[in-house]
Amino acid sequence: MIRRPETQAIDGSAGPETPTADGRQGPASPRPETRAVRLRINGAAVSVEADPATPLLSVLRGPLGLMGTRFGCGANQCGACHVLLGDRAVAACDLPLWSVGDEAITTVEGLGTPERPHPLQSAFVAEQAMQCGYCVSGILISAAALLRRNPRPTEAEVRAALDRNLCRCGAHNRMVRAVLRAAQADAAA
Ligand code: FES
Ligand code: FES
Repeated sequence: MIRRPETQAIDGSAGPETPTADGRQGPASPRPETRAVRLRINGAAVSVEADPATPLLSVLRGPLGLMGTRFGCGANQCGACHVLLGDRAVAACDLPLWSVGDEAITTVEGLGTPERPHPLQSAFVAEQAMQCGYCVSGILISAAALLRRNPRPTEAEVRAALDRNLCRCGAHNRMVRAVLRAAQADAAA
């Protein structure tokens, strides 16, 4: 379920005065341009007022209130912020709004619901594949991208698809089993 964007602008500005290194107030920093940016997220059209250079992750977790997509490294290194852009898993922390265009975005909230979970979500529960859970939304998205392009992956293919996703709890083996279980469930359905 998408919450409609509030009017709050995302402009990344530091405010009218910026403290200098010695703590005095320096000159005002230039204020980036904001404008209405249209996005298609989890099947709904939304519009946010933002600097087009803003990373998608800031808008998801900010005005759109979609907190399932995590902030980890902020540098396209950990996979915690993965979303589907079309059928590809991409790092939302490294995806400026201007580059999204009309492509459909799917966050973990758009994969399934508590009443109708995605096969991957059911399989992760069945395999108890989460520990702290922080990395899991990004891993579900990477796995969903894999199953869209390859519905019957081998274990090696699952491991390769999750290679960009870090899990500091070390739950990778259970997650790989869960992805294989979801693929089998899908094939049997
Ligand atoms: S927060 Fe985006 S890849 Fe780590
Ligand atoms: S389950 Fe804790 S970081 Fe992956």
